[in-house]
Amino acid sequence: MADTSAFLDQQLVNGSLYESEQRLANRTGALMSAKITGRPTAEVIAVYAAAARPGNGNGIVLDIGCGRGASTLALTQVLPQATVCAIDASAALLGATRSRLRAHDLAVHTVRADFHHLPLPTGHAALAVAAFCLYHSPTPQAALGEIARCLAPGATVILATKAADSYASLDRLVAKAGLDPDATCRPGLYGAFHSGNLRSVTEGIFTVTAVEHEAHRFRFRDLAHAAAYLATSPKYQMPDDLAGNADAITDHLRRTLAEGPVETASVVSYLTATRSQGRP
Ligand SMILES: C[S@@+](CC[C@H](N)C(=O)[O-])C[C@H]1O[C@@H](n2cnc3c(N)ncnc32)[C@H](O)[C@@H]1O
Repeated sequence: MADTSAFLDQQLVNGSLYESEQRLANRTGALMSAKITGRPTAEVIAVYAAAARPGNGNGIVLDIGCGRGASTLALTQVLPQATVCAIDASAALLGATRSRLRAHDLAVHTVRADFHHLPLPTGHAALAVAAFCLYHSPTPQAALGEIARCLAPGATVILATKAADSYASLDRLVAKAGLDPDATCRPGLYGAFHSGNLRSVTEGIFTVTAVEHEAHRFRFRDLAHAAAYLATSPKYQMPDDLAGNADAITDHLRRTLAEGPVETASVVSYLTATRSQGRP
């Protein structure tokens, strides 16, 4: 059995995981339509960003690992005078971010780059956001060091991640249904950078000013709804005819489990910190 998280498999992360926006869109759609409690993460990030007043509102703002651009849009809306720059390793997701902003008649700078090696000048940006992406790094501290290099002295960084045991009840469901009998033993997706080590990994590079943890609860209305999420998870090793196939997973779940709602939970954690006045 693989002993590293699928989210750290760089071949997967730089390949099929984000080569189109579809998997992420399906995953977010299934999760958000199941959410019972927990604030929208992009809105929380935007509140923190507005409070930071980067460059008195006029500064350069980096949205690192922007994904489909939910946080990029929120940042652009809450900081209309700022220059927002969306950065991601995936060309497809940068395209999705541009489309999302265009739909709101907003423009955004996009840069395709690896967050370990940002093609940006030293000490210019007033704010950086890295939400739900540093758990893809085998060396999140190195990525944070590179982000710190790009920030002006005293500038703010906002980080967001999830608890290491997020969605654990779904692992048990997948194992019980025989979809992946080893599901509960597989490494968690968020192991490299999670709610429990967010502060310790960041301290030493930045001065941490606040950490907030928020419980998120989800209730999938039925097995088909849960299957729509399960089909998007790279964590499980299902038979080839089921992997990634929500309809086939639904059929299998219906044959093996009682139909009904499925509940799960995660913790979302937000950290704000400042770059020290000296060189990082
Ligand atoms: C789960 S998405 C997060 C999206 C977004 N920040 C949000 O809050 O919804 C993770 C993103 O990190 C990006 N990513 C993963 N590894 C990266 C790296 N080394 N450098 C830059 N982006 C990376 C992926 O392409 C993907 O768009």
